[in-house]
Amino acid sequence: MAEFRLPANSRVNSQGKVFKAPAGAKHVRTFKIYRYDPHGEENPRVDTYEVDMDACGPMVLDALIKIKNEIDPTLTFRRSCREGICGSCAMNIDGTNTLACIKSSKEISGEVRINPLPHMPVVKDLVPDLTQFYAQYASIKPWLQSRTPAPPDRERLQSPAEQEKIDRPSACILCACCSTSCPSYWWNGDRYLGPAALLAAYRWIIDSRDDATGERLDALEDPFRLYRCHTIMNCTEACPKDLNPAKAIADIKKMMAERQH
Ligand code: SF4
Ligand code: SF4
Ligand code: FES
Repeated sequence: MAEFRLPANSRVNSQGKVFKAPAGAKHVRTFKIYRYDPHGEENPRVDTYEVDMDACGPMVLDALIKIKNEIDPTLTFRRSCREGICGSCAMNIDGTNTLACIKSSKEISGEVRINPLPHMPVVKDLVPDLTQFYAQYASIKPWLQSRTPAPPDRERLQSPAEQEKIDRPSACILCACCSTSCPSYWWNGDRYLGPAALLAAYRWIIDSRDDATGERLDALEDPFRLYRCHTIMNCTEACPKDLNPAKAIADIKKMMAERQH
């Protein structure tokens, strides 16, 4: 993917195209959308789309789908579930990382500015290259590691209190809104795991059925992988699922400190 690498915050060097609303449209909103075409020449640029909101659903994703279907089929973005579950429509809307399918255009005043998630290589338009993000997630071994044989007749049980501990961290949809809002991740994303991967690590560290806690903590004992978090808290603010990766990271650091005594 190397030839597609283009930081989303790079200087936009062209005015871009303007797609006017149909004549007679009464409630028109303007969408300013970042464009990058790996095979095109005018890169990157911001195209302007006027959308008739009387013929469009309320969410930003509704507008993107309308633009792609009716105005400009070259516009590229990811989406799947349309209800905040799959995480694929994560992007930067009006300066904030969020999910386009649960962000209403009505919450935004004036022009709706849409960019890819910040500081990631761009594959095309609003599609970031998440290869490294997924590799970091895989590196924390996000699966149960148990040393004891499973009961022959049922699942490995947990108490309600044990389950409650992993309930929220398990709700992460890997949208990357948190990691791409984290300044430490922007500058050291190749070595710092970032809040999403660390929240996943935490989810397995505190799982009562997992027997690899020591190895999991050992794997994070590194000046970059964990300790590049400086508790700036952007991650928790950005999470569209109201999760708290910053607290999870702080708890891992606490566990590290406690086991050294
Ligand atoms: S709390 Fe840590 S992970 Fe979250 S934004 Fe700040 S530095 Fe990044
Ligand atoms: S913690 Fe929240 S923002 Fe981060 S990847 Fe998971 S769901 Fe997305
Ligand atoms: S389309 Fe699945 S989270 Fe938005």
